[in-house]
Amino acid sequence: MKKMLCLVLTLLLALLSFAALAEEAPRPILIGGAMDLETADMMQALEDAQTQVINGYTYVSGKLDGYPVVVVKTQVGMVNAAASTTTGIMTFNPIAVINQGTAGGHDEALHKGDIVIGATTVNINAFKSDWSDKGAGIDPTKWIWMTTEVLQDGEVKEVSSLSSDPALVEIAKSVPYAKGTLVEGVIGSGDVWNKELDRIGLIHSQFNTSCEEMETFAVAQVCAYTGTPFLGIRILSNNELHQESFDPQTGADCQAYVLDVARAMIKSY
Ligand code: 5AD
Repeated sequence: MKKMLCLVLTLLLALLSFAALAEEAPRPILIGGAMDLETADMMQALEDAQTQVINGYTYVSGKLDGYPVVVVKTQVGMVNAAASTTTGIMTFNPIAVINQGTAGGHDEALHKGDIVIGATTVNINAFKSDWSDKGAGIDPTKWIWMTTEVLQDGEVKEVSSLSSDPALVEIAKSVPYAKGTLVEGVIGSGDVWNKELDRIGLIHSQFNTSCEEMETFAVAQVCAYTGTPFLGIRILSNNELHQESFDPQTGADCQAYVLDVARAMIKSY
C-alpha cells in the first residue's frame, strides 16, 4: 500500500513538473516565404536548426536571439500558402505568423526595393459576372468583386479584407530599413501575375492595393480562423508601372528586414 502511494506521488510530481515545463516553453514565431530566394537566408540564420518535411512542406526550426523560430517554405500560390500554414500552426502552435516575400507594385509612388507592411490584405481574384450573350465579349471592368467566407470564432463571416495584427504592424513600422522606403499599405493576393497596366490600374482603383502577390490573403485567412496573430510583409521585386523587372536580390533584402522584425517581436515577448 505504501509502495503504491509512493508510486502515485512520484507520477503526480513528474506530471506536474512536465506541465510546468510545457507551460513555460515559449511558442515559436512561424515565418513563411514561397520560394528559396524568400526563405533560404532566414533558415540559414537560425541556430541549432532542424529540418522537418511535414505534409510535403519544409519547416526549419531553430533559435533567433535564443527564441524559437520556424521558417516554412510555403511554395507558391494561395492553396499552398493555406495548407502549409495550417500544418505549421497545428504542428508548432506559433505565437504569431509572418508571411513575407516578393511582390509586384500597384502604386506609382513605390519602386523596386520598397517594402509594404500589409496593414490589410485583399483577395484580388474573387469575381463574378452578370450574364452576357455569346459573342458579346468580355469586360473585366464590369466584373463584380466577391467577399470571402472566413470562419472566425466559430462563425462564418463575409469579409472584404483581412488585417494584420495592429501591434505587430506597429513593431514592423519601428524597425529601420535602409534599402528603400517602408510604407504601410494594402497587399492584394491571388493566383495571378498581372503585367497589363490597365488591369493593374483597375485593381489599384478598386482595392487601393500597394502591391500584388500570391499568398498573403490565404495565410491571413488561416490565421483568422485559428486566432493566430498575423503580419504580412512584402518587398517590391518588380513594378510594371515603372517597367522595373523582377530582381531576385529583393528576396534577400526582405528576409534581412523580416529577421529584424522578428528580433523586435522577440524583445516584446
Ligand atoms: N504578381 C504576382 N506574384 C508576384 N510575386 C512577385 N511578384 C509578383 C507579381 N507581380 C511572388 C508571388 C509568388 C511568386 C511567383 O512571386 O507571391 O510567390
